[in-house]
Amino acid sequence: MDPQWVYIKDFKEHIEQVVEFRGWVWNKRSSGKIAFLQLRDGTGIVQGVVEKKNFDDEAFERIRKIKMESSIILEGVVKKDERSSKNVELHVTSFKIIHEPNEDYPISKKDHGIDFLMDNRHLWIRSRRQFHILKVRNEILKAIRDFYNNNDFTLIDTPIFTGSIGESAGNTFKLEYFDYGEVYLAQTGQLYLEAAAMSLGKVYNLGPTFRSEKSKTRRHLIEFWMNEAEVAFYKHDDNIRLQEELVSFIVKRVLENANENLTELGRNIDRLQKIEVPFERLTYTDAIKFLNKKGFDIKWGEDFGADEESTIASQFEKPVFIEKYPRRAKAFYMQPDEDNPDVVLCDDLLAPEGYGEIIGASERIWEESLLIERLKEFNLPVDQYQWYIDLRKYGSVPHSGFGLGIERTVAWICGLEHIREAIPFARTLYRVYP
Ligand code: 4AD
Repeated sequence: MDPQWVYIKDFKEHIEQVVEFRGWVWNKRSSGKIAFLQLRDGTGIVQGVVEKKNFDDEAFERIRKIKMESSIILEGVVKKDERSSKNVELHVTSFKIIHEPNEDYPISKKDHGIDFLMDNRHLWIRSRRQFHILKVRNEILKAIRDFYNNNDFTLIDTPIFTGSIGESAGNTFKLEYFDYGEVYLAQTGQLYLEAAAMSLGKVYNLGPTFRSEKSKTRRHLIEFWMNEAEVAFYKHDDNIRLQEELVSFIVKRVLENANENLTELGRNIDRLQKIEVPFERLTYTDAIKFLNKKGFDIKWGEDFGADEESTIASQFEKPVFIEKYPRRAKAFYMQPDEDNPDVVLCDDLLAPEGYGEIIGASERIWEESLLIERLKEFNLPVDQYQWYIDLRKYGSVPHSGFGLGIERTVAWICGLEHIREAIPFARTLYRVYP
């Protein structure tokens, strides 16, 4: 009987058994009598031990000289080995090479420049660090879905093509849509979630969004993933509570299920263990006062840049909410504060350790006349928003929601320097390849 195909993650349950391995040669070293193969299969890395005495000379030379990233099927006995990271090794008894490259693998251990690595992103994702980042990203996305499922939210898949600009008109991707004319790629699914919240109460989405931003920073992508939530009858404070519960749930889940990946990435786990509700709250106005004291020349009404955000966030160990921004600095749909109509009931959540804004949120305008007034103030075409205005005509209620940037969250939780590593294939100002 052929041995069973077993993934590396399950090797520990097959000690002293013969198993089949299917995967790739990640690295290797050898002496005259023994070859050590670092093997990977998508679930981990394990050492394969090939002893010359078990093979004829030709076969041993063949495997000893095998090129990096060859694909291979092996049979062998799983042995306990306290020295290896997985505490197991595979003692190879036979092998079949599926495909061996004709040339050396372009990515080696030497330091490659970032442009080279990004040009080879399709191969770079095979490397150890990228593997661990993608695993953490997966855990974050799973946690998000579980959070909403545990809390009675309904998933609403919002459209990518839209005629209604959701955020600022300045950074939309425009394209021609048959006879209809100009449409945009979604910057947000929020407006559609607002419609769905009036049917299903608590809703969320999770998908790609697009911003034609000429920003070349370590926090900006042109195509990024966002999770948005919208809840009927939620006010600003309910919205804040939902955000801190979501974010602390995500961090807790990653610590539980992807601790090994974080450790491999060299992430300081202690910092993440401190992420518990409640998070601190600071008004925009107090944040400006604080920044002025710190020597920043920023005036009330101006938006924060990366330096300002980092300076504020560095005062706290946990993420911090900055709430109630000036009306003019924010989007058209935000509900004014009753106590001070110059500010709106919104918040940005800043991640600690200099990672900056990961969430943008607000209570929404729910009164028809005020919404129309704001659309005009922002020079948006009121007729394109008739459906959105309708929501304020039929059983309108206060409602609130937010958007969490997935890649910024991944970058923070993994401790990455740059957002481009937080997504499988980054689209930045100068990159759509591969
Ligand atoms: O603050 P933003 O623009 O909010 C919205 O789009 C709202 N409509 C969301 C809502 O209330 N439903 O974006 C939300 C988050 C930001 O906090 C940031 O994390 C991320 O999306 N984000 C970006 N991430 C990477 N690259 C970019 N260019 C980003 N722009 C925003």
